[in-house]
Amino acid sequence: MKAIWSKRKLTNNEDELAKEFMECIKDIIHLDEVKELDNFVQHCNTSRLQHSLNVAYYSFLWAKKRGLDYKSVARAGILHDLYLYDWRKVETEQHHAFHHPKEALKNAEALTELNEIEKDAIVNHMWPLSQSFPKYKESYILTWVDKYCAVAEVVVQGYKAVGRLKMFSRGVTS
Ligand SMILES: [Fe+2]
Ligand SMILES: [Fe+2]
Repeated sequence: MKAIWSKRKLTNNEDELAKEFMECIKDIIHLDEVKELDNFVQHCNTSRLQHSLNVAYYSFLWAKKRGLDYKSVARAGILHDLYLYDWRKVETEQHHAFHHPKEALKNAEALTELNEIEKDAIVNHMWPLSQSFPKYKESYILTWVDKYCAVAEVVVQGYKAVGRLKMFSRGVTS
């Protein structure tokens, strides 16, 4: 279990930072509803679970560096896209960008108790495409990291596609 562009094995018990991160999310990461996120594609070949882990880990690092509530932002990262449908195939009342944060909050609240920072970070993670401004610094961290990870996930796939193309052009496809 690793975040995108990170070499850190998050399950390594000898790594203090990894242990601290896992401690923050230990009560939610193994829940069936969260694990089910692995069955949905988020960006290119990245699953929604991997995307959520990416967002949680980098938000955790940033909040920790800033002396903010890194536990809440890590938990919110895991839960911010907790909707169990393919948004490309399911029609919702509002546009996906506005609908899914509310759906994620509703699902997350059904799973675990959330504090105000966690709720705010989840429901406003699409800011500025949200109905209100985020209230907490942690929420702003999550919204920026979410966008960064989305780009990173697409770029990685782009690199892989370019690599495959190069291999193909050299005639060494397997
Ligand atoms: Fe989202
Ligand atoms: Fe996201």
